[in-house]
Amino acid sequence: MIKPHGSETLNPLYVADDAERAALTKEAENLPSLLISSGAAASAVMLGSGYFNPLTGYMNLAEATSVAENMTLPNGQFWPIPVINIVKSEQVTDAIKNAGRIALLDPNVDGQPPIAVMDVSGIEEISDDQRTYLIEQIFRTTDPAHPGVEAFTEMGDQVISGSIQVLNYSYFRSDFPDTFRTASEIREDIEKRGWNTVVAFQTRNPMHRAHEELCKIAQDEIGADGVLIHMLLGKLKPGDIPADVRDASIRKMVELYFPENTVSITGYGFDMLYAGPREAVLHAVFRQNCGCTHLIVGRDHAGVGDYYGPFDAQTIFDDIPEGALGIEIFRGDHTVWCNQCGEIVMMRDCPHGPEDYLFLSGTKVRDMLAAGEMLPPEFSRPEVAEILMEFYQEEG
Ligand code: ADX
Repeated sequence: MIKPHGSETLNPLYVADDAERAALTKEAENLPSLLISSGAAASAVMLGSGYFNPLTGYMNLAEATSVAENMTLPNGQFWPIPVINIVKSEQVTDAIKNAGRIALLDPNVDGQPPIAVMDVSGIEEISDDQRTYLIEQIFRTTDPAHPGVEAFTEMGDQVISGSIQVLNYSYFRSDFPDTFRTASEIREDIEKRGWNTVVAFQTRNPMHRAHEELCKIAQDEIGADGVLIHMLLGKLKPGDIPADVRDASIRKMVELYFPENTVSITGYGFDMLYAGPREAVLHAVFRQNCGCTHLIVGRDHAGVGDYYGPFDAQTIFDDIPEGALGIEIFRGDHTVWCNQCGEIVMMRDCPHGPEDYLFLSGTKVRDMLAAGEMLPPEFSRPEVAEILMEFYQEEG
């Protein structure tokens, strides 16, 4: 099986031994505690799950800057996006300053229980200029209306770095028992299925026919044994469809429209960054960590609005140093329904033009569903459209 990123074996930071974890959880109750951001808590889940192998915790400012600048840690390790824990200055009490070890509290679970114990190696102030620099490198924009930029800016100005031991998977294990999987669990499952080549499909949406066909075309062209549908289960921007609705529609589509035993449906616990190209590279790193040999990167992957060109998330891979990644990218072209062909096509494989293609914007899709109008079968499988319609009707 493909090796994890940066090490021979996967080293998840979740404390798997029950007795050790119970002792640490007890210790955490008596440590000075710090309420972290939703993004930092999601990073703890990714670190705990092995997806962020070989990182051992949150980066300091020099590490984050080096990663933001050239996708490499000061120690030479390739890494595409800072994994950083930033809080507000009023949260950094004397108790936190004087403690070598602290408990990190999860803002996303009732009662805000500890999600990890941290050995603090640094507390640094990030200046406005430094923050702007990081944001510009990561998001290619400093526009405060960009949801990723907004979330990054809101976190505060104190960077708390250090290694962590993870105590739980936040709300992901309990809310999505059938779908949330760690990188190690996915590796085990791939092995059990006997798959050698596995193509991962990243998604934060219900899967429409273009998504379905993208997976099928990629699997066919690669000759992959299986497709790992790997959906984001964490936080999204307002207006995006909640994970349970996406999960249900994806399961229905796979059940009805994919050959048996060719697809594994799973999810991971991370918030969407909307960082387009940089996030695509992060996506590749953590799909390698869960044992996939390929990742599909299509049109406007992990994008939002028009901050990124439609294929920027593919061209970024041209600049990655050779050997930095083991996983390969399947570059998908724009995929649409063509009236002339009478099927979903990838534009590069189709001789017809835009006048023959069916395009529906996300807004149009939402408006139709809210109005109780069925999505056209050329765009969405009727069973998928039904699940979405039910959700939009309930939402009012
Ligand atoms: S994403 O933020 O997770 O990338 P989404 O779930 O919509 O959003 O897309 C999942 C994957 O499908 C991405 O690789 C994206 O580029 C690709 N994709 C979605 N729609 C199309 C399309 N019509 N044509 C080509 N690729 C697409």
